[in-house]
Amino acid sequence: MKAFDSAPAWDRMEGYDSTPWAAADDTEEACAFLTKIADGGRALELGVGTGRVALPLARSGIAVAAVESSPKMLEQLRAKPGGDELEVVLGDFADVPVEGEFSLVYCVFNTFFLLLTQDEQLRCFKNVAAKLKPGGAFVLQTLVLSADHYGADEWTETMHLGSDEVVLLASVHDADEQRVNRQQIVLRESGPRFFPMSFRYAWPSELDLMAQLAGLKLEERRKGWNDDQPFHYPGHVTVYRKHA
Ligand SMILES: C[S@@+](CC[C@H](N)C(=O)[O-])C[C@H]1O[C@@H](n2cnc3c(N)ncnc32)[C@H](O)[C@@H]1O
Repeated sequence: MKAFDSAPAWDRMEGYDSTPWAAADDTEEACAFLTKIADGGRALELGVGTGRVALPLARSGIAVAAVESSPKMLEQLRAKPGGDELEVVLGDFADVPVEGEFSLVYCVFNTFFLLLTQDEQLRCFKNVAAKLKPGGAFVLQTLVLSADHYGADEWTETMHLGSDEVVLLASVHDADEQRVNRQQIVLRESGPRFFPMSFRYAWPSELDLMAQLAGLKLEERRKGWNDDQPFHYPGHVTVYRKHA
């Protein structure tokens, strides 16, 4: 199954932060957690988008750099207070194309799974490890595919239901590739809009093995930023550490 090119969808995502079905609502908790892990050192966000997390983190005194591939998402970041001062490289985060070393590299809100092959994901882990200072951390926040979906070829979900709009997720699953091709369909009276997206999911143990191959060690896996229960569906926050 051929993957969608997701880039046009991100370029079409005007008003990302104020779109309740698109943006995550865990910014404060994420920043509090990441601030603690950064411990005053330099931080790097992979797939920064509109700076939802990076900008408040920078405002709290952390030196933040970022990578992003969508010029339109970057435009939204630049238009925000402090957006002009953030160091952002336009590029592919699998390459981690940013100068210098970091105490913290992070990739939140399932963004890591936008790398569509195991090779790309492993390459990213290795490039992250090379950019971390000794003792530095890589924090990942990713989904876990629902047990119902592992065996399914396709499914449709109602993601958001308003009085004048509905957002449907129509997904087709390639279990061999661990990939989901998804249309986010926004239906309004003015007409439908389509946001095609593909992602390659990985079970946590596969992520841990990639980390190990890159020279990083699993330090902690929890259900959420504020929830230190062991992970389970629908996702987890994981901290990997480079040897001090
Ligand atoms: C789910 S959004 C998350 C944005 C932001 N991190 C947040 O939490 O609000 C994913 C972002 O990653 C960017 N992206 C996807 N693939 C990328 C890649 N290979 N390199 C750089 N950025 C990428 C998209 O353009 C989009 O802005």
